Parts: sequence; structure tokens; C-alpha cells
Amino acid sequence: MKKVFIRTFGCQMNEYDSERMLLLLKDEYVPCAEPKEADLILVNTCSVRQKAEEKVYGLVGRLKHLKRSRPELVIGVCGCVAQQEGEKLLKRLPHVDLVLGPQAVYRLPEALAKVRAGEGPVVDVEFRKGFRQPLVLPEFDGHRPVKAFVTIMQGCDNFCAYCVVPHTRGREVSRPPEEILAEVECLVRQGVREVTLLGQNVNSYGRKEKGFPSFAALLREVASIPGLWRVRFTTSHPKDLDEELMRCFAEVPEVCEHLHLPVQAGSNRVLARMNRRYTREEYLEKVRRLREICPEIALTTDIIVGFPGETDEDFRQTLSLLEEVRYHEIFSFKYSDRPLARSTAFEDKVPEEEKARRLALVHELQNRITREINESYIGRVEEVLVEGPSPGNPELLTGRTRTNHVVNFEGPAGLKGQLVHVLIEGCGQHSLRGRYLETVNPPKGEA
Ligand code: 5AD
Ligand code: SF4
Repeated sequence: MKKVFIRTFGCQMNEYDSERMLLLLKDEYVPCAEPKEADLILVNTCSVRQKAEEKVYGLVGRLKHLKRSRPELVIGVCGCVAQQEGEKLLKRLPHVDLVLGPQAVYRLPEALAKVRAGEGPVVDVEFRKGFRQPLVLPEFDGHRPVKAFVTIMQGCDNFCAYCVVPHTRGREVSRPPEEILAEVECLVRQGVREVTLLGQNVNSYGRKEKGFPSFAALLREVASIPGLWRVRFTTSHPKDLDEELMRCFAEVPEVCEHLHLPVQAGSNRVLARMNRRYTREEYLEKVRRLREICPEIALTTDIIVGFPGETDEDFRQTLSLLEEVRYHEIFSFKYSDRPLARSTAFEDKVPEEEKARRLALVHELQNRITREINESYIGRVEEVLVEGPSPGNPELLTGRTRTNHVVNFEGPAGLKGQLVHVLIEGCGQHSLRGRYLETVNPPKGEA
């Protein structure tokens, strides 16, 4: 067997796509841990912010010496940077053999065959009309993961002013429900207990297709699969979050009480310039309703600071929104110009030092809120799905609560894959600590 090394940057969709690439290659290649052992090196890239893109050029640039000493080595750049740069990428990185956009990663075997036939380099960044990702069923030889991702749709139609995704992943296409269900069933047969359904905007699942269920209906169907204990999903666009979906948090026991609901900014003027299509008031009203339906729900969000034209006053509204919502956790970023994104042409850019200052203020505020929320868990008994030994301390076990908090805890060996109760006894900035009490596996469809 030949060896493949794969490195993945960016979002969970990319992680999922990387897994598919390994599955497509599995008859010929086994994964390896070091680029220097590999016959094929794949870098699955992200271009959502400039920093992510720079990392790719750094990493792939450093592979040049390997290619020089072993010309038969095949190097592929895949994903969003590949899509965005296309042929241009070969000018900067002439030692690359494959440039495959997010749709083209599903055509990897054909592209590889061409390179082997001496027809390389191959650049495939075509968006084919009616493209659907093929069903590539997961197979885990030996290792039994407790949780897995399942992509339910590709692409995005929203065109937020700052965002590169509609340009790199193309228009929104939903996968047929039968394929999604078949894939989840296949995962569950192999021992998976928790799935996260993935899409750029899962709330609009199926709206463009005839006869597809709504996202909430799909979620209920997935949740009813015997042997599956937990379901999560990401990402939700606030404008498309509806009552039907909110009710799933209260009515479907498998749906975990956590929602990632990116707000991006707290000022209506900035939200309008970002083309987010909701106001602060509409967003807060949805949060209020969600909490009415499911009081224990944990919310997380994404924040961009220093969007072009963001004044001090606009920024203060982001801070006040953070205080008002009290998210469990946030992901915050300095605005970064992206090729093809509309805001790149906006003139009133915020200086770099000012963006850094605002980001630090966001961190400071959110760190306090996260700490307060984490402390409020102390003394509570939480349901945790055990993932295995804690990477930081193999004496401890690790897992997540339904609200998606990491818990490291003391407990007997052999609990991996079990649903347990843990008494929370302490916390840090990013995790809770506790002690095993009992196993509470649900009676539903023991696999
Ligand atoms: N600059 C900074 N952050 C961005 N994001 C997306 N595009 C940009 C950009 N141009 C952030 C958003 C999004 C998250 C995945 O990345 O907050 O929700
Ligand atoms: Fe990055 Fe967005 Fe592409 Fe995911 S979809 S890899 S976040 S640019």
C-alpha cells in the first residue's frame, strides 16, 4: 500500500471532506503521520481569513525540498484556497500537482490518475451545474469513534459582504434525505453515538428542492435512528432560525441543548452593511424565544471586530450585546479583506491597531462571562458522552455535556462510548472538571 499524508485547515466541512478523500483512496493508500513518509500529500485549505490562507502557503512552500528529492511524490492543494486561486496557485507553488476545489475533492481518484499518466498538473475548480456530493459511506477499520460529522448541504447563497464562502463553495445544494439517513445509519452501525449535521446554513436545508423535508423535520428523522443518542448541528443563520426548529430543542430528546448562532456584530448599521438581513432587535427576540422554549440552552457565536466603517459606538454595541446574551463561548476575529468579498471594496477600513484593541476588549469581556458560566456548573450533575482518555492528562477521561462543555473527569476505565453522569467539581477557562457517578445509557436501540 502507498501512503497518504493529509493536513486539514478550517471548518468542520473541511474535516468531513478530508475524511471523504481518505475513503475514496482507501484501496490504494493508508494514512501516515509524517509528510516525509508519504507518496501523496494533500493539504485541505481554508480561505475564510487571510491568516488561514497564509498558513497554507507556508506549509506547502516547505514541501518543495521533499518534491525535489522524490519527484514521484504527488502534492495536492484542495479546498477553499485551491478554488479561490485556481491556476494562479501553480505560479506561487510550481511543485504542486493537484489543485482541487471543494467540489473537485470528490473527483480526486480521476485527478490522481491523470497526474500518474503524466498529464499533470491538474487544476479542477469547476462548479458543475447540479453537482451533488456522492455518497461515500464511512468505514472505520479498528478505531471506533464515538461521534462524527455528516454534511447535509454544500455551499451558501447568502453573500454576507465579508465572506468568501459563496465564492469558494458555490451555491447552496442540499443532499437528499435518504442519503443523509443512510450515512447516519452506517455510522451508528459502527458504534457512533453522536452526529453533528453540517452545512453553511443548515436552517435553509431543502428549501430549494422539491419534496425535501424542512431542516427541523430532517433533524427529527435523524434523531429517531435507533442507537443514536445525540444530535447536534451547525451552522445556523439567525434570519432562518424558525419556531419549528426551536421547538426541536424542547421536544426531541436526542437534540442537544446547544446552538451556535453567529451574530457577527451588535450594531444595526454594521449588520446592514454586512448584509446579514436581521437587526439586533430581531436577533435578541429569537434568543428570548429560544430560552423560553428551552431555558437550559447554551448559545455560542461568532464576532467580527473592525468591519469597514465600524465606529467606536458601533463596537460598544457589540460589547453590550455580549453582556445581554451571555454566550457560553464565542469565536472572535479581526475583520480581514478577502478576494471576491464585497466589503474588500469598502473604503472606510479600520486600522489594524484599532482592530487589535477591540478584539482584546471582546476577549476580556467574554473571558469573564465564560468563567462565570463555567463556575455556575459547579455542584451540578451533567450527562456526558465519554470520548476516551483526556488528551491533556491520560489519567482522566474526557467528554462533553449536552450543552457542549468539555468535561475532564476521574472515572473507571472502559467508559468510552458510554453516557454517564458526572458531578462537576471545578472549572477552568475552557473546560469543566468532575467525578464519575453512574452510567446512564438510554434503553433506545442498544447496538
Ligand atoms: N474576516 C474576519 N472574519 C471572518 N469570518 C468570515 N469571513 C471573515 C472575514 N473576511 C468569520 C465569521 C464567520 C466565521 C466562520 O469566520 O465570523 O462566522
Ligand atoms: Fe474555510 Fe469557509 Fe472554506 Fe470552511 S467553507 S474551509 S471556513 S473558507
